Amino acid sequence: MSSCTALRALAVLVWVAAAYPVVFRARPVQAGLAVNWGTRALHPLPGDITVRLLRDNGFDKVKLFEADPPALRALAHSGIQVMIGLPNDLLAGVAGSMNAAEQWVLQNVSNYVSRYGVDIRYVAVGNEPFLKSYKGKFESATLPAVQNVQAALVKAGLARQVRVTVPLNADVYESPDGKPSSGDFRPDISGLMVSLVRFLLDNGGILAINIYPFLSLDADPNFPVDYAFFPSPGAPPSQASVQDGNVLYTNVFDANYDTLIAALEKHGLGSIPVVVGEIGWPTDGSKYANAASAHKFNQGLFDRIVAGKGTPRRPQMPDVYVFALLDEDNKSVDPGNFERHWGIFNYDGSPKYRLSLAGGRPIVPAKGVRYLSKQWCVLRPDASPADPAVAGAVQYACEYSDCTSLGAGSSCGGLDARGNVSYAFNQFFQAANQQRAACSFNNLSTIVTTDPSQGTCRFEIMIDTGRHELTGKSSAAGARVGSSGSWSAMLVLGLVGLAVAAW
Ligand SMILES: *[C@@H]1O[C@H](CO)[C@@H](O)[C@H](O)[C@H]1NC(C)=O
Ligand SMILES: *[C@@H]1O[C@H](CO)[C@@H](O)[C@H](O)[C@H]1NC(C)=O
Ligand SMILES: *[C@@H]1O[C@H](CO)[C@@H](O)[C@H](O)[C@H]1NC(C)=O
Ligand SMILES: *[C@@H]1O[C@H](CO)[C@@H](O)[C@H](O)[C@H]1NC(C)=O
Repeated sequence: MSSCTALRALAVLVWVAAAYPVVFRARPVQAGLAVNWGTRALHPLPGDITVRLLRDNGFDKVKLFEADPPALRALAHSGIQVMIGLPNDLLAGVAGSMNAAEQWVLQNVSNYVSRYGVDIRYVAVGNEPFLKSYKGKFESATLPAVQNVQAALVKAGLARQVRVTVPLNADVYESPDGKPSSGDFRPDISGLMVSLVRFLLDNGGILAINIYPFLSLDADPNFPVDYAFFPSPGAPPSQASVQDGNVLYTNVFDANYDTLIAALEKHGLGSIPVVVGEIGWPTDGSKYANAASAHKFNQGLFDRIVAGKGTPRRPQMPDVYVFALLDEDNKSVDPGNFERHWGIFNYDGSPKYRLSLAGGRPIVPAKGVRYLSKQWCVLRPDASPADPAVAGAVQYACEYSDCTSLGAGSSCGGLDARGNVSYAFNQFFQAANQQRAACSFNNLSTIVTTDPSQGTCRFEIMIDTGRHELTGKSSAAGARVGSSGSWSAMLVLGLVGLAVAAW
């Protein structure tokens, strides 16, 4: 699983009015919320619009997986606190060279704090570096990288304001008998975990843990479904609830989190502050990934955050960074097709389902989004889905765009063969900014102006990153356009190549 991938987590933030610029004080939000903002989309929602979306919905803490310049510039003077990630592929370099660590801090932290006024509070060193599936690849570099980043922050005079953390997957701890009170670190990394947490504790850092009930359910057909969700008020506890001494654990989040707390306490590390770095539920791409389940899980989570209700061992809810803000159609699908559908908002900042915040106030959509024209690319009415050239064209279209909604049980899984082909053609056409050449597919396709969406299957129109640039609102959007412009040029070239090959 890629860094951002494995198991994720949302947080209760205490509303500290004093920490906000005067302009925000009047907002009716009671509790702050935290969220992961990933930017692996072919047409990313522009930074200024995303930051407004965050503020309008009361998110006052955000986690970025890397120092994404447009996102960071948009966060300048926003009153939003930022956790910024140092990706796993930089760990070895930063671990091996103090100078590399200093340069990273200078370029990716100091620069944004002092030049742009970004309120960076944490550096997340690596992302789930001890994940079992990495087979130890990042184990030796992580602690030295944390130490070098900490030293670089001290040298840059930022160590009071910016603290270090390491977001870890919940697979770094386990319980031999399934009871949270028996929790301990995974034996192969136990010594490393103790040294790492000890260092964080001694240097004012925190621990971030990613917890994914969805992945437990998705991976195991025998996993008790109701135990994955927070219990509804008044409902009888799940049959799968775990009795641990006097405590009855009625859901996997509480049990999982307390397993970590028990492990920390066992090693005398119980005083380390813990946040949930990722947690959430996807809406497409797998059996349990749908809007109804995501709504159920995330509403349960938001309710706990708003109430500030923690777990049996930690009665105060920690900061919880929800995964994720937006869908990302350019993420790796190694973990599964659901990987591009974790957003509580669609790619364009429209809510996927009604999620209530404090006082029952629903989340609100992004404002000011500009779209490409209302046109779609579909299979020509006079062409047959059985045409021998169709399979290759669909395969090509789906290689360079997102077809994860086409799988069985997904939102577009019910389309007939014609709809299926059209969906793939349209995804490619939109990814290529609706350039005419991107709807040529060996003369099998045509552009239409009536929306071909059917039932749960949405034929999307992409965001017009170019129009955002033309309005000249932010240089952030401009930087994006450069890359998506050349990307679509590449697509079209590729397409011409395909057509030639087919001849
Ligand atoms: C700053 O972060 C970006 C994004 O992760 C990375 O590409 C770049 O190399 C970093 N700068 C330094 C000096 O390490
Ligand atoms: C993401 O986009 C890049 C081009 O910007 C492309 O090379 C890559 O294959 C895409 N990845 C996925 C997972 O779609
Ligand atoms: C639709 O496309 C997907 C992915 O290309 C494929 O797995 C599925 O079998 C297709 N369904 C139909 C009805 O053609
Ligand atoms: C494309 O298909 C249409 C209708 O089937 C046909 O009239 C036209 O000649 C075709 N064009 C090419 C270049 O094959």
